[in-house]
Amino acid sequence: MIPTTLVSALRDAKLVVVLTGAGVSAESNIPTFRDAMTGLWARYDPQELATPEAFLRNPKLVWEWYAWRRSLCADAKPNPGHEALAALATHVPNLIVVTQNVDGLHHMAGSRRVLELHGNIKRTKCLKEKRVVESWCETDQVPPRCPQCDSMLRPDVVWFGEPLPKDVLDRANQAAANCDLFLSVGTSSQVYPAAGLVYLARRFGAKTAEINPDATVQAEEMDWAVAAPSGEALPALLAAAFPPKD
Ligand code: OAD
Repeated sequence: MIPTTLVSALRDAKLVVVLTGAGVSAESNIPTFRDAMTGLWARYDPQELATPEAFLRNPKLVWEWYAWRRSLCADAKPNPGHEALAALATHVPNLIVVTQNVDGLHHMAGSRRVLELHGNIKRTKCLKEKRVVESWCETDQVPPRCPQCDSMLRPDVVWFGEPLPKDVLDRANQAAANCDLFLSVGTSSQVYPAAGLVYLARRFGAKTAEINPDATVQAEEMDWAVAAPSGEALPALLAAAFPPKD
């Protein structure tokens, strides 16, 4: 399943960047966005749920939709793909996970260097001052209000039309430009700027690989494309590059 040249590139790499998307959490029972039958965007309209305008139009609907997704994430456990990435970081000199996922499962699996490009669904911030809020008064108001500025609370995730957190994006760009190996795992590679990181990595000389059961538009441009679920391919890659010692 894993090309031997990819295994060698992983063994030789000083800095590995792994961009992950919803597919990495699919085996933890968190739905992806664009899979035809099961993806969230097959059932829900992102323009009604995942934009600042949608929130202002119908804050209750958006708050409750994210509360539902938060409960899915709260029940989820890291899968062998998340665990293999955390283990891989103990073998290579430097490994940075750049994730579009908001579920926090990379941290839960033990990955330490994680850049969350699209925020984290477990965090809440206030609309007006963008302050992260840990607790608030439970009243009948949905969404609840910020205890300090009284503006509505919202999930601390990036919605369509919003900029990514600048410091996080800067660090992701820097990591991509400096890595030797860039792995794109479980993402449809349709949402920018995340989908552009691989081109930056390539321009600065990195080898690139995709892991996805369904090849994306970027697959042909990669040095390797592994057509397998990440929960199988990542443990196989780890075992091939760094076999367990008896
Ligand atoms: P998508 O839903 O667009 O793509 C998920 C990808 O995962 C697809 O290419 C699947 O083929 C692949 N996949 C499915 N099961 C897999 C598995 N077991 N192992 C590996 N890959 C698998 O999700 P993203 O690319 O993450 O943003 O979407 C990017 C952004 O668009 C999200 O962060 C979200 C979404 O709208 C916002 O909400 C702002």
